Amino acid sequence: MRQKIVAGNWKMHKNAEETEDLLNDLIDKLPSDAEVHIIVAPTFVNLASAVEHLEFTNINVAAQNMHQAEGGAFTGEISADMLKSVGVSTVILGHSERRAYFHESNSLLKSKVDTALKHELVVIFCFGEELKDRQSGNHFNLVENQLKDSLFHLAEKDWANIILAYEPVWAIGTGETASPEQAQEMHEFIRNTIDSKFGKNVSENVAILYGGSVKPDNAREIFSKPDVDGGLIGGAALKADDFATIVSAAI
Ligand code: 13P
Repeated sequence: MRQKIVAGNWKMHKNAEETEDLLNDLIDKLPSDAEVHIIVAPTFVNLASAVEHLEFTNINVAAQNMHQAEGGAFTGEISADMLKSVGVSTVILGHSERRAYFHESNSLLKSKVDTALKHELVVIFCFGEELKDRQSGNHFNLVENQLKDSLFHLAEKDWANIILAYEPVWAIGTGETASPEQAQEMHEFIRNTIDSKFGKNVSENVAILYGGSVKPDNAREIFSKPDVDGGLIGGAALKADDFATIVSAAI
C-alpha cells in the first residue's frame, strides 16, 4: 500500500516571521499520526529555521529548487550539499514555474535529479502539460516525454527516492482543477508509462501526487482516485486551516 503524501509548495511567499507563524499554526492544526507523509517547502532563506522548528514533528522540509553542480561560480544558486547541511530531506524539481520562467529543460532537470539523488535527497519531480497541449490532444505524449527525458535513465533502486507530481499547468493558481476523472486518467497513464520501462515493482510503489488548485472542498474526491497518492498544494498550503483540511482528506 502506497503511503499518501501531501506537500505544500510555499513558492515566493512568507518572510522569516510569517514562516514561523505558519509553522506554529501547522504544528497546532495538522494531524500528528503517521498515516500521511506531510512536507512543506518554504523559501531557501527560511529552510534552516524551518528544519529546526519542525524537529520533533512529523512534518518534513523540502527546498523548491536546487542547482545541478556540486558548487562553484554560480552566483545566487544553492547546491544539494548546502540543502543537506541544514537538514533538508527533499527537493522539488521541475516545477512548471521553473520550466516557464527560468527555462529549465527536461535535460537540465535530468542533471538536477542525478545530483539530488547522489546526495540522498528525495526528489518531488513535477511535470504536466499546458492548456494548448491538452486542447490539441498532445498531453499524454508531452507527459511521456517529460518522464522519458528526465527519469528513464534511472536505476530501479533510485525510485525509492522519487515522488512524481503531475501538475497540469492550466490548473495551477487558476482555480481550475482537473476533474477527479481527468486526474485519474493521467495518473493511470503515468503509472503505466513507468511500468512499461521499470516494471511493477517501481510503478506500483511510486507515489504520484496531483497539483493544481487543490482546495479543502475538492481534495477528498481527487485523493480518493486509485492512482492519486496525495497532492502538491500551492495557494491553499499558505493557510494552516486549509492545509490541515487537505491533509486530513488524504487519510
Ligand atoms: P495551486 O495549488 O495554487 O494551484 O498551485 C499548485 C502548485 O503549483 C504546487 O506546486
